Amino acid sequence: MSTAVTVELGDRSYPIVIGRGLLSGNFDLSEFMRGTDCVVVSNETVAPLYYDKLLPNFGECGVTGINLPDGESFKTLDSMQAILDKLVEARANRDVAVVALGGGVIGDISGFAAACYMRGVDFIQVPTTLLAQVDSSVGGKTGVNHPRGKNLIGAFHQPRVVLIDTDTLDTLPERELAAGLAEVIKHGAICDIEFFEWLEANMPRLLAREPDALAHAIKRCCEIKAAVVAEDEREAGRRAILNFGHTFGHAIEHCQGYGEWLHGEAVAAGMVMAARLSGLAAGEVERLQDLVAAAGLPIQPPAIAPGDWLAAMGMDKKVQGKQLRFVLLDAIGECRVSSDYDDERLDEILRG
Ligand code: NAD
Ligand code: GLY
Repeated sequence: MSTAVTVELGDRSYPIVIGRGLLSGNFDLSEFMRGTDCVVVSNETVAPLYYDKLLPNFGECGVTGINLPDGESFKTLDSMQAILDKLVEARANRDVAVVALGGGVIGDISGFAAACYMRGVDFIQVPTTLLAQVDSSVGGKTGVNHPRGKNLIGAFHQPRVVLIDTDTLDTLPERELAAGLAEVIKHGAICDIEFFEWLEANMPRLLAREPDALAHAIKRCCEIKAAVVAEDEREAGRRAILNFGHTFGHAIEHCQGYGEWLHGEAVAAGMVMAARLSGLAAGEVERLQDLVAAAGLPIQPPAIAPGDWLAAMGMDKKVQGKQLRFVLLDAIGECRVSSDYDDERLDEILRG
């Protein structure tokens, strides 16, 4: 049984196929390839678990594999270069498909390589973390980190298909599952109060990895993200709402050293900080904080000097004319992107 959500982008529209047991040949990926060759990018952790299972999904196509070292600290131009080297070594043509098998790190680097090789080749996402299934595999943001800032180098490059086999979550470490829940909570907090309420009621089921609960959460996040991306693919406006908590979160990741705090953990603490900056009605910040805590995620940032916060946040991609912009909540389930915030309140929040 599988279900599909479509990202509506005209002739670049694509399906997000969600279901159990979709690997092992149960979904034909060759239909989404122009040619007969693909390069599967994975890492040293995921490949031993799922590379062989994925192979039958390509039918008779030729498959070359490359495994990168595991971790956010390897989300670099060097890793992308390794993928490009593999494509050249395989004498890949313009009709090659680059396939990402892994979490958001592998997806982001591989997508960027696909965007650049021969000025752009087909890209397929097979996300294996909750975070990648609810967020990073959808929407076409690809890229790598720069030593001076998170995700500073990249391109928009949409996949041809996203294949989500939710059974892959069985092997995901608990800490990574929780990190994915941060982006799940984000989707409810920014634009869907009903989903937020469902999360409040069902967090224990998600933590227990109940398949129906996971499938519901993944599908709802994909629907929300697909709608936002369809409206504003290149983040000229509304798409920035998907960055709720990320201005603070990216600064945490950068200041702590990539890999120390997981992306989802940094976003979790960042969402609570952004909610505090939002000027919400009484009890609303606590409500968000309680849900974040229920997911086993941090509600407080690590100790970072205010000057370091501001230097890191100054490199945020939402900055306009040197002015920081934040995604702020009007209420849970409603948000705005704004540079209109209280400086003193921000200073207080940064001082902890
Ligand atoms: P990740 O890719 O580092 O994966 C987390 C860990 O889980 C890794 O050690 C990985 O090897 C392991 N893993 C993956 N699948 C597994 C499985 N099924 N079983 C066991 N282990 C498994 O981290 P992530 O949280 O998936 O992604 C975070 C990245 O995503 C960040 O770089 C972030 O910036 C990016 N991101 C991108 C977007 C986007 O729109 N492009 C959106 C959100 C986040
Ligand atoms: N994760 C933010 C975006 O895709 O726009």
